[in-house]
Amino acid sequence: MAYYHSKNRLDTKAEQHNNVVFDVEGVKVYYDGFLALLDVYLKIPEKQITAFIGPSGCGKSTLLRCFNRMNDLIPKAKVEGRLYYRDRNIYDPKINSVKLRRQVGMVFQRPNPFPKSIYENIAFGPRANGYKGNMDELVEDSLRRAAIWDEVKDKLKAKGTALSGGQQQRLCIARAIAMKPDVLLMDEPCSALDPISTRQVEELCLELKEQYTIIMVTHNMQQASRIADWTAFFNTEIDEHGKRRGKLVEFSPTEQMFSSPTTKEAEEYISGRFG
Ligand SMILES: Nc1ncnc2c1ncn2[C@@H]1O[C@H](COP(=O)(O)OP(=O)(O)OP(=O)(O)O)[C@@H](O)[C@H]1O
Ligand SMILES: [Mg+2]
Repeated sequence: MAYYHSKNRLDTKAEQHNNVVFDVEGVKVYYDGFLALLDVYLKIPEKQITAFIGPSGCGKSTLLRCFNRMNDLIPKAKVEGRLYYRDRNIYDPKINSVKLRRQVGMVFQRPNPFPKSIYENIAFGPRANGYKGNMDELVEDSLRRAAIWDEVKDKLKAKGTALSGGQQQRLCIARAIAMKPDVLLMDEPCSALDPISTRQVEELCLELKEQYTIIMVTHNMQQASRIADWTAFFNTEIDEHGKRRGKLVEFSPTEQMFSSPTTKEAEEYISGRFG
């Protein structure tokens, strides 16, 4: 059971082969007193793509938001436990969450460009952070890395919101990259995209993982199997009051998750028996 989460121990191949970027140590999340996500123990490997899969309501987005303290912005959310980002507990009150979010960027399900020009979508964040380098170069470089430069280079003054959905999502990825993050969190980044744009974002993720650690929530199991190195399967269970709560069931190399998962729950989900 090398990859299965026992309460206090996790010996994964990830740990043997890659540096650990996040070490999740018994994290629980409550909304208004309701325990939505049971103690999670998990280590996220560096410069790899980790996919979060599982049925609706099992806590994937909830956990994803823990990695850059986005749950702080939800008034009734409470996070317990320890979550180390490169050896610092990010739930230590001394941590500056604004700085953390620069290092741990987020791309959302619905592309959300600013209602500004394509150029400004990229330049705005770095400028607000006092970026002193050559802005034109940073804009071009970020758009190139997000594989959208050729499509927008002749219309940098056009509104970001006037692009197609797939282009907007790559623009949002470029915007995240321009902040020179260390980690990219992505919550179903392709769910609003057509298959061609989806493949473009997937290809992009495969390129980006050379430099960044990526954690991606997806309902698309083919997507997880195509691009993720590691897959975490979450599920729901009924608590003693009859309420559904989420839990992490299994964390395995993707190939193993989709060919011979360690747990029966993951096997049933993957073979489509529920979800
Ligand atoms: N802002 C919130 N306020 C209250 N409860 C919430 C909030 N966000 C999530 N929850 C609850 O927490 C649980 C986990 O939700 P979460 O959104 O993390 O699930 P998910 O796995 O991302 O689902 P989906 O696949 O549908 O996006 C659910 O029971 C949900 O109702
Ligand atoms: Mg979600």
